[in-house]
Amino acid sequence: MSDPRPIDELSKLEAAQELAKLARIIADHDKRYYLEDSPTISDGEYDALRRRNDAIEQRFPTLIHKDSPNKRVGTAPRSGFRKVRHAVPMLSLANAFKQEDVQDFYDRICRFLSLKDGAGLTIVAEPKIDGLSANLRYEQGQLVLAATRGDGREGEDITANIMTLDDVPKDLGADAPAVVEVRGEVYMRGDDFAAMNRRLIEDGKPEFANPRNAAAGSLRQLDPKITAERPLRFFAYSHGALEGLALDSHMALLDQLRAWGFSVNELTQACQSVDEMIAVYEAIQDQRATLGYDIDGVVYKVDDYGFQERLGFVARAPRWAIAHKFPAERAVTRLNEITVQVGRTGAITPVANLEPITVGGVVVSRATLHNEDEIKRKDIRPGDWVVIQRAGDVIPQVVEVQLDKRSGDPAPFDFPRLCPVCDSPVERPPGEAVARCSGGLICKAQRVERLKHFVSRDALDIDGFGDKNVEAFAELGWLDSPVDVFQLHHHADELRSMEGWGATSVDKLMAAIETARRAPLNRLIFGLGIRQVGQASARLLARYYTDFDTWSVAMRKLADCDAGVEAELLNIDSFGQAVVVELQRFFANDGNAAVVAELGALMEVEAVEAPADTGSPFTAKTVVFTGTLESMSRPEAKAWAERLGAKVSNSVSKKTNFVVIGGDAGSKATKARDLGVPILSEQEFRDMAERKLKTSANASNETSTNEEPGKAAPDTETSA
Ligand code: IVH
Repeated sequence: MSDPRPIDELSKLEAAQELAKLARIIADHDKRYYLEDSPTISDGEYDALRRRNDAIEQRFPTLIHKDSPNKRVGTAPRSGFRKVRHAVPMLSLANAFKQEDVQDFYDRICRFLSLKDGAGLTIVAEPKIDGLSANLRYEQGQLVLAATRGDGREGEDITANIMTLDDVPKDLGADAPAVVEVRGEVYMRGDDFAAMNRRLIEDGKPEFANPRNAAAGSLRQLDPKITAERPLRFFAYSHGALEGLALDSHMALLDQLRAWGFSVNELTQACQSVDEMIAVYEAIQDQRATLGYDIDGVVYKVDDYGFQERLGFVARAPRWAIAHKFPAERAVTRLNEITVQVGRTGAITPVANLEPITVGGVVVSRATLHNEDEIKRKDIRPGDWVVIQRAGDVIPQVVEVQLDKRSGDPAPFDFPRLCPVCDSPVERPPGEAVARCSGGLICKAQRVERLKHFVSRDALDIDGFGDKNVEAFAELGWLDSPVDVFQLHHHADELRSMEGWGATSVDKLMAAIETARRAPLNRLIFGLGIRQVGQASARLLARYYTDFDTWSVAMRKLADCDAGVEAELLNIDSFGQAVVVELQRFFANDGNAAVVAELGALMEVEAVEAPADTGSPFTAKTVVFTGTLESMSRPEAKAWAERLGAKVSNSVSKKTNFVVIGGDAGSKATKARDLGVPILSEQEFRDMAERKLKTSANASNETSTNEEPGKAAPDTETSA
């Protein structure tokens, strides 16, 4: 079962492959032994597998995977698929909805690269396929690993399933580079989808709502034999890790992908101007209905890899690409009732309860009405016929009322003045659109919503802890504050005896909670649900303070209005007064501060890694740019500094490490001189940066994506 080869002779690649295999095999045996009570090997054989795993890990400590049998807590894997960390993160795309957004995208790139009127800039336009993205890793030409996108950093191992797809080559041939990761979209054609649904219905099985769901459901089959029967296809459009092959443009990549036998979308076209981009968008939109597969927009990508590299990334999306979405799909239905929902920060959102209707392949029965003013402005009343729209994954919205269909004179909606859950007064500060329950944590809805957020995928990511369970445990009185999540094991026995909860699912949940005990600091911070502190800000905070203790000491000081911490925070690029105010407000509340302290004691919060580029003269240094730069635009200079691990700030203080001065520098330069802060000319900055960027040239793409440099997208509160 395990490779008998001496461990000393294993190459790193072989070791990685064997560890992955062992992790899978051991997890399977664990499951059989612990959960199904039907082991298929002897204890001795099992121990031998574990020993071999440990010995390989000892020799190659850098290959120790999160799913290592030694890291997995308890016995239950979090799902049937092994988790794999992407060598290069899989990012998402920013969206453009209007022509102006496309023009802005183009202008931004020209400014960043200092290109006059787009001279020398080619943009490739291609359909945005509505499926699921996958990363296919080839080593020495052989397909060795396929993974879903997951959260962008970590996906699930779907190798066996991808192997069943006809249009995925398994062998790229003799000239293949040492490593290439091909990225693209797994999708299902409309006719194949219809035929498959017919078969499912004949077999008395539930059908899928749309091709995308069908593709997702088919790809996530634990048994690859089932996937093999499903008509899945793959369009290749991008790459991840790449070693041993130099490519200089996206078009060159697409040619190479075709040569290797991948399907590359035929509608892909190079454009030299915004007008051409829009023309391709319109042409593709015209063909949308007859393509035979679903697309939801057009993706524009800067063709030149040198430009792409310079442009880099902002938060989770590249600066060099954007998705131009097709207009949302609309439908008309009846609004039966308006209810309100209380979010985790008390925001009261009105919700339209609709006569269910299919929009773009999905049945919609609820839509957001945003806020009180929106209802008034659109004059939406219960019983009205309304136009609703749904675009991508966003929550369906009520666009307008069809007044000609209104019968009688229905009463306008009375926005509640008391919270429907806790009866506390609803407050709406002047000038704000959002009404909030003033009950704070007295309000059960707020507590429950906060808990849902705490365990959610982007926060502590506790599998098996869905919204329904949070509600049920809160109802039972087991769960009131995030701290209780880590005390839930006291109720495990009781839970096992409850209807709908087998030993298996309880064990799985407990194991997932144990894993979450070691969450990284940024996830914990995000999970607290502090207003204004979204994922990007949480990551910046975690990276700045590194570990839980340093961070929590600073936050306690902030609660006491410590000016030093306040200045420190404002110096983090993109942090404005609003974030600082909310952090202060949160920690000034004794209840919140106590929860955080208790979490610190109950968890082993993982410190956040320092930026990869530790060797740079700018690592963890605060840099201020002032004056007009000659050789590069301000955004590009800033992105360079951030790629080298610097924090870019707007104001000069004693804590500033470098001020980079361009032409006509004013008061900031004077202040730097007064404070004795080191000053660099533009050329000096370039020389220092170039020296460093050159030495890490090959890794730069990876470094920048891993570290997600750039301005944090302003975090808006997403109310539940
Ligand atoms: S490029 C860094 N090209 O859209 C850019 N994505 O919203 C990587 N998608 O997760 C993506 N068609 O699943 C790219 N032609 C295309 C695409 C495409 C569909 C999906 C992909 C990605 C999502 C981003």
